[in-house]
Amino acid sequence: MVITPTEGGFGASVRGIDLRQPLTDRQRADLVAAADEHVLLSFPGQAIDDGQQLAFASNFGTPTSYFKRQAAMTGNGSDPRIISVTNVDGDGTLKHASELPDEGIMASRLWHSDNSWRQVPDRYTLLAGKEVPPTGGDTQFIDMRVAWDALPDGRKDALRNVLVAHSREQGRAAVGVQLTDEERRLFPPVPQPLVRANARTGRQALYLGVFASHALGMPQEQGRQLVQELLAYIAQPRFVHSYAWRVGDLIIWDNSQTSHRSTPFAEHEYRRVMRRIGVLEEAPLLTP
Ligand code: OGA
Ligand code: MN
Repeated sequence: MVITPTEGGFGASVRGIDLRQPLTDRQRADLVAAADEHVLLSFPGQAIDDGQQLAFASNFGTPTSYFKRQAAMTGNGSDPRIISVTNVDGDGTLKHASELPDEGIMASRLWHSDNSWRQVPDRYTLLAGKEVPPTGGDTQFIDMRVAWDALPDGRKDALRNVLVAHSREQGRAAVGVQLTDEERRLFPPVPQPLVRANARTGRQALYLGVFASHALGMPQEQGRQLVQELLAYIAQPRFVHSYAWRVGDLIIWDNSQTSHRSTPFAEHEYRRVMRRIGVLEEAPLLTP
């Protein structure tokens, strides 16, 4: 197995490994360490099926189960742990123009960390490119460690212990979608730390995205302003990296120290079919 850091200092590609096969303990440990260091790993040329992707994901922790509406919306039948991110319908044809982009795709166009609105969010996401458009449709990433490191020391001191309310409601409101009453009851806002450290590397990173509504411990309007200011700060081009897909790529990113978003492509013309599996954090980020 050969791990090559990407030029430009973000991410690494991994070759010389067949993800259809179980990992050795050594490979597993090396990949967890590489994910800690590089926060995005890409595995080119992996023709794996859903079961193999699930087995590979399980090396990093427990796969996330998506609730019914989320799973139905993204249209991958039976296993609630496997989600399709796609502009293609169940019958294999492009979705109708009126359905594109759908709610999930719209939401993914804004900077986010997957499921940060859950008490136990996704630590990792594994995305496999089954069909990719010839142009457009990159996935973009922010290295939230670099964004944190670049803040002045005084600002860091002021932010270090801040908590931020995250909610699915906030994320959906950003794309003009309202939660149902049941969803609002099931998914209340969750406080999350604004700054997170990787327990193994000690690196710190900002943690926020579209689900972040307002910082706590101050008047709500001021807390909202702080979140908006930081969202603008992290989105500066100097922190942003684009991943251009090729068919057969599988990538895994660390949601605890990155934010990401999807980008547009000619979705009425080209097919983009990705299979996605999340891996849960081991525990809530805050002890209740
Ligand atoms: C996701 C996501 C980005 C993309 O699946 O969580 O944000 O480019 N995907 O499809
Ligand atoms: Mn996402």
